[in-house]
Amino acid sequence: MTHSLVAMSYIVATILFILSLSGLSNQETARKGNYYGMLGMAIAIIATTLSASVTSYTILIVAILIGGSIGVRAASKVAMTQMPELVAIMHSLVGMAAVLVGYANFMDNTIVIEGVERTIHELEIYLGILIGAVTFSGSVIAFCKLSERISGKPLLLPARHWFNLGLLISSIVLGWMFLHALETGGSPLIPLAMMTVIALIFGVHMVMAIGGADMPVVVSMLNSYSGWAAAATGFMLNNDLLIVTGALVGSSGAILSYIMCRAMNRHFLSVIAGGFGTASGGEAAAIEGEVQPIEAEETAQLLLAAKNIIIIPGYGMAVAQAQHTVYEITKLLRDKGKKVGFGIHPVAGRMPGHMNVLLAEAKVPYDIVFEMDEINEDWGKVDVSIVIGANDIVNPSAITDPNSPIAGMPVLECWKGETTIVLKRSMASGYAGVGNPLFVMENTRMLFGDANVTMQAVLKALRG
Ligand code: TAP
Repeated sequence: MTHSLVAMSYIVATILFILSLSGLSNQETARKGNYYGMLGMAIAIIATTLSASVTSYTILIVAILIGGSIGVRAASKVAMTQMPELVAIMHSLVGMAAVLVGYANFMDNTIVIEGVERTIHELEIYLGILIGAVTFSGSVIAFCKLSERISGKPLLLPARHWFNLGLLISSIVLGWMFLHALETGGSPLIPLAMMTVIALIFGVHMVMAIGGADMPVVVSMLNSYSGWAAAATGFMLNNDLLIVTGALVGSSGAILSYIMCRAMNRHFLSVIAGGFGTASGGEAAAIEGEVQPIEAEETAQLLLAAKNIIIIPGYGMAVAQAQHTVYEITKLLRDKGKKVGFGIHPVAGRMPGHMNVLLAEAKVPYDIVFEMDEINEDWGKVDVSIVIGANDIVNPSAITDPNSPIAGMPVLECWKGETTIVLKRSMASGYAGVGNPLFVMENTRMLFGDANVTMQAVLKALRG
């Protein structure tokens, strides 16, 4: 393939990636957005494969076969609830690739450039490895936290901010030593290797220090880092498409992190510094009161008597895969003339847009799906709200208890409605590990059991 044809294919792929991102920003166009992304990636792979930069087709084909089959297997086996873990581990691969490409570039003696260009190239290598190593180790820890292989509680080392500052200053000094050694014929590998170890430690420490409730920000932040790591790889490999794609992922991830922070009423820097919500010193209030259980039959009667119903889905709906039954109930109630809506919290579930994906899969119409801000003013008009496997996103202590680890996070204030029915299997806490006073409020009823089983029982009772 000629150079200009490759460049043209890269431009087409870039346009498709931009269309993909804009498509993904809206539920109705998300499917199309995915197709644009897939087409763009196919064009990018074909153009790169046929470009003059490929020196060994055997290695390339073997690598594509190995990587492709691992990807296909992982994506087809993964459960919807494990998607955030898959995303986190994929980010770690982008980070690892940046580190490996950086070292390969560093050791490649066939690259002959001089002067400023050489210094820029060396700086690219150094920064690429730095960002890549932070992304790699941070994503591995995020994967372990999301899959509950390690505790979601923040690890707060004494003087951790000084420790982070020390790591940052060491990386800058080592960067200077690296460039100096290259110019004076010293041994640049030592500062480079030391910086890699420091960056790996920084990635681990940064994510370990972040509390469970702030994980959404970490996931989107690592998404952004992986983009910058890809862009750095693009600079090292002189590949314009990788630079542009990396920058698109990096900046969209940064915007998503900002949106997540705003949704959780957090400052980005406080989240990164870690331990947010645990610094107030006091103990979170204990939950006292009596639980009032309810059965499916009675739940159906309450629903039949209600005019205005709001459904709040959470992570438990994804676990139970109850979305189809929930929609059956919604259709039935709407046919009976009830007003039924869905209230979506921005961090419900385990990944951005998790609930929207589930509801779209069950074919719930978009016009009855509302964001938290749209719904939080209208609770006074709601007769019954059904909380399906949600916990942290409906926890009143976020508003009432300044010592709560989720203090300050906006929540769906369903307790302001007439009756709330909470579906879950036990009194266990949610992802943030915080007790929930909603469960013992006077106007709350607890419907215990797997959400799909209890929802099916409610559906049967409604039909009966
Ligand atoms: P959670 O607070 O995690 O609560 C989910 C509840 O679902 C649990 O209390 C659990 O109680 C219940 N549950 C689990 N399986 C169930 C089943 N089969 N049937 C019925 N109930 C079931 O979820 P949430 O309210 O959606 O809040 C999300 C949390 O995850 C927030 O803390 C958020 O910060 C965090 N997080 C979010 C993201 C993103 S981007 N969305 C990423 C990482 C972390 P039982 O065990 O008693 O059934």
